[in-house]
Amino acid sequence: MIQHLLLISHVSKHFGGNVAVSDVSFAVEEKQIFGLIGPNGAGKTTLFNCITGFFPTTSGDVIFDNKKINTLRPDEVCKLGMARTWQRVKPLGSLTVLENVMVGAFSITNTTREAEIIAREQLQMVELTDYTTKSAGSLSIGLKKKLELARVLATRPKMLLLDEICGGLNHTETDIILDIIRNIRIKGATIVFIEHDMKAVTSICDRIVVLNSGEKLAEGTPEEITNNSDVISAYLGGGHHA
Ligand SMILES: Nc1ncnc2c1ncn2[C@@H]1O[C@H](COP(=O)(O)OP(=O)(O)OP(=O)(O)O)[C@@H](O)[C@H]1O
Ligand SMILES: [Mg+2]
Repeated sequence: MIQHLLLISHVSKHFGGNVAVSDVSFAVEEKQIFGLIGPNGAGKTTLFNCITGFFPTTSGDVIFDNKKINTLRPDEVCKLGMARTWQRVKPLGSLTVLENVMVGAFSITNTTREAEIIAREQLQMVELTDYTTKSAGSLSIGLKKKLELARVLATRPKMLLLDEICGGLNHTETDIILDIIRNIRIKGATIVFIEHDMKAVTSICDRIVVLNSGEKLAEGTPEEITNNSDVISAYLGGGHHA
């Protein structure tokens, strides 16, 4: 039997009369890089918020590592090995790069010494060792995105949910982040990746789900998705903004 690490089962999220996510189901296997795409307002970030405990689901279940997690708080979900990055990165600007990553590490250790060791390992993973003592607020957007990755890696997650981690980056910066994501998977983690850059999505994802107006429009391999006529007319035809 195939082992699903994450199972989204008939998840809906309503904000008053606004249906942001509507009866969405899919499963992510261990060590997959799984893409979640769709136009602005499709419900991608809302689904991440439901998975990670920031919003209760209106209906449906989220099962992670065989546990129902949609009734848990964000810190409880994090402790189970699920970490997420934010669409708008917000490092603690007055702290150093190292201290920001140590904040992540404190979710798995109580000692400063151990937190520093874990943080330095993750800074190496994202190639930020030259910036360890710099204030996080002074970093460029490209480096802030790497810092965001290091911060979540410091929680030693089984699964990472990345919300537009390449948003606002140029091609060179995007390629560097994609290589880091490939390395994260090689080390054993599973990744769900929200991204508008289709070249990035198709080059890195094993499987893709397309959301449109809160509903699942399609699911398949990158090739199936880029050739799907519903997806082309709803999304790939153009008119969206990152
Ligand atoms: N906290 C909230 N309160 C009310 N409505 C919300 C809230 N968060 C999201 N929504 C609504 O849910 C819908 C989906 O928004 P969401 O941010 O999930 O889209 P998205 O697919 O991430 O879009 P983008 O690609 O622009 O980031 C939108 O109609 C949005 O206005
Ligand atoms: Mg979003």
